[in-house]
Amino acid sequence: MLQGIALLEAVTLLKKNQIVALPTETVYGLAGRAESVEAVEKIYEVKRRPISNPLIVHYATQEMALKDGVLCEQGKKLVKKIWPGPLTVVVDKSPDSRVVSLAHCGLASFAIRVPNHPVMHYILNQVGPLAAPSANPSGGVSPTTAEHVHQAFSGTVPVLDAGPCVIGVESTIIDLRFYPFSILRPGYWTLEKLLKEFPDISFQEAQSSDIITPGTSFQHYSPKKPLFLNVSPPFDLEMGIIGFGPLQGDLPTQPFVQLSVKKNIEEAARNIFSALHYLDRSEKCLSIGIVPIPSYGIGAAINDRLTRAALKDHS
Ligand code: TXA
Ligand code: MG
Repeated sequence: MLQGIALLEAVTLLKKNQIVALPTETVYGLAGRAESVEAVEKIYEVKRRPISNPLIVHYATQEMALKDGVLCEQGKKLVKKIWPGPLTVVVDKSPDSRVVSLAHCGLASFAIRVPNHPVMHYILNQVGPLAAPSANPSGGVSPTTAEHVHQAFSGTVPVLDAGPCVIGVESTIIDLRFYPFSILRPGYWTLEKLLKEFPDISFQEAQSSDIITPGTSFQHYSPKKPLFLNVSPPFDLEMGIIGFGPLQGDLPTQPFVQLSVKKNIEEAARNIFSALHYLDRSEKCLSIGIVPIPSYGIGAAINDRLTRAALKDHS
């Protein structure tokens, strides 16, 4: 059973350079002080993350983030409208920043974000910038509840439980260092939505040769069981099924998780990682199958994660 920690306890632990799992609007993050080598080292160690894969640094306010990162005018316009919110930007690091270089693997660039979550905001205000990757062992499925974090680390990481995350897939990552701006990881802010909201700014999907984001370059987000995409009835009896909208025919007899009975794509995004966690732990299925998910809106981010999750070599 999960024994969550309280807000003030989280602040105390973080100030002592310990790491704590915290909620954001996207997924839970494994947070530690970005200005402490000790804390950042612990994040890589606990997550078993290669130290060639940089972390996102989170700030309480736009002003604080804009002091640490160097942004062009168009970039500032973008973040001023979206932050706090599910957007991470890759920028040059300001020479005055006190974020340790280990947080961004010694790269010249680093990734910053101002999340939109009252609990995270309070803690960032108390403790200062926090480095926080998603709170799952490297390569695994991201957590959208405190219980997911608890299970993934067998209760060894303190978790501040603030309920399920409202968006459910990780932030959109945009590289603001070159123009047109490149979308390195799709999320709530899709190319379509960005072009509509910012008609005077140019964006493009990153080319595979631009990929410098390990989470976007290879297998990731994987359950332990084999995952099959675009399945349709009749389903394999040993397969747990993830549905989207009413199924034709009878309900399957095997474990079944509905992402959204009304085919609401944002509801599906909120539920997708929970569905994967649930079926991965179920003793009643050996594999996981998911019906086709449309790619409009945040559906593009869901399909991006599912495609990478299904790449795992299960041999
Ligand atoms: O929604 C989110 O972004 C969550 C919450 C906790 O904020 N965080 C998250 O962090 O998804 P993580 O570490 O799981 O994914 C961050 C991605 C990684 O694929 C990493 O390679 C990329 O961001 N990244 C970090 N710094 C980068 C940089 N300087 N250049 C390019 N990619 C970078
Ligand atoms: Mg991650």
